[in-house]
Amino acid sequence: MDIQKIHHVAYRCKDAKETVLWYKENLGMDFVLAIAEDRVPSTKANDPYMHVFIDAGHGNILAFFELPNSPEMGFDANTPDWVQHIAFEVPSVQVLEQTKEKLQAKGIDVVGITNHVLFKSIYFRDPNGHRVELAAPTATPEMNRKLDEVKWEMLEEWSKTRRAPKHAAWLHEEEFQA
Ligand SMILES: [Fe+2]
Repeated sequence: MDIQKIHHVAYRCKDAKETVLWYKENLGMDFVLAIAEDRVPSTKANDPYMHVFIDAGHGNILAFFELPNSPEMGFDANTPDWVQHIAFEVPSVQVLEQTKEKLQAKGIDVVGITNHVLFKSIYFRDPNGHRVELAAPTATPEMNRKLDEVKWEMLEEWSKTRRAPKHAAWLHEEEFQA
């Protein structure tokens, strides 16, 4: 396997400058690079763009395109709005709690803390409407081992029944009882 890491993932944004400043202010993520052209290098289409790279830690890059000549961005109407998201790892549940408070103090709506047992998460929207998750790892080696054992069975069962297999129901037991 020669894949090293995520080089970058690219989303569309409404305003490149607003987006760069928002990620710096709210998540401490640095602006790395701007690439802008009047033509698209891969397709040669005439379509001016600003492409910004933002540091997501450890060499991972979150990228955005601002495209002034396209209609305002929308989202896939057939997919529930909690589905498509990007999750960043934070070092601890304490950092997760602190960040939640900081975001809320700035008037940002935060969902969670949600307990996924393997990690705890909060969810919120960036200025473009993209759903962002912050996740603090809480898994033990034992949990990871148990899940690894059942992953193929779960996938097989799902592919036949389209109903959630119960092998790992322990993951969200507490969250659903809350
Ligand atoms: Fe997620």
